[in-house]
Amino acid sequence: MTRPPHASSPLPVAILVSGGGTNLQALLEALHDSSVARVARVVSSRADAAALERAHRAGVPTTVLAEPASADEVSAALGDAWLVVLAGYVKRIPPPVVGRFRWRVINIHPALLPAFGGPGMYGRRVHAAVLASGAAVSGATVHYVDEEYDRGPIIAQWPVPVRSDDTPESLAARVLEAEHRLLPQVVLELARRGVPGKPVRLFAAGSTFVTGDKLAVALEEASDGRTVGPSNR
Ligand code: GRF
Repeated sequence: MTRPPHASSPLPVAILVSGGGTNLQALLEALHDSSVARVARVVSSRADAAALERAHRAGVPTTVLAEPASADEVSAALGDAWLVVLAGYVKRIPPPVVGRFRWRVINIHPALLPAFGGPGMYGRRVHAAVLASGAAVSGATVHYVDEEYDRGPIIAQWPVPVRSDDTPESLAARVLEAEHRLLPQVVLELARRGVPGKPVRLFAAGSTFVTGDKLAVALEEASDGRTVGPSNR
C-alpha cells in the first residue's frame, strides 16, 4: 500500500522515543516547513523522556504510553500516521502493529547492521562492542522494523571511521552526527516516494560518503529498483 507520492498534504510521520531525542530534534528541524512530510505526533515509552520537551517546544502533540506492549494502545497512539520512525525507542513494537504498518516502520541503529545489533545491543554497549572487535569502520543504519529485533531489511547506512583513541563515548558522538544527517534524509526520500509498499534500499548519490571533511548525504534509489527482503537477504 503506497501513498500517492504527490499527495497534496505532507505525509504524517509519527516518531517514537524513549530518551534524549536528538534524532527527533534533527527530524523536527529537517521537516519543518517541508511540503513532503511533517512530524504529526511524538509517542514516548517514558514520561520523563527529554524528547517530549523537544516535541512540546515544536508544538507537536505527544502521547506517553502506559503499556508499550499493548498493541491497541500503541496503534491508537500512532493514529493516522503514514510512516513510523523509531528514534531512540527502546521498547519492542507489538507484532500486530508491525503488521498494520508493514514496511512503514523504520528504526535508526548506531552501528552497521547486521553486526552489533540484536537484543541488548543499545546505547554504550554497541560502541564498546565495536571497539572490542577491532573494527575500523562503524556507522549508522536505518532499517525496516519487522518481527525480528534489528534484523529488518536495511534501507540506508552511513560509515563512520573508528579512531585508535576512540572511547565508546567519542565514537557514539561521531556516529550520532551521522545519524542526524542520515535519518531525516531517509524519511524525506521515503515520503517523496509515498513510502513504497515493499522494502527499498537507498544509496549515497555519487561515489563517496565524504567530501573534504564533511559528511555528504544525498540518497538515491538503486537504478535497477533493487529491493532487499527477508527472502533474498
Ligand atoms: C541513537 O544513537 C539511536 O541510534 C539509538 O538510540 C540513540 C538515541 O539518541 N537507537 P536520541 O534519543 O535520538 O538522542
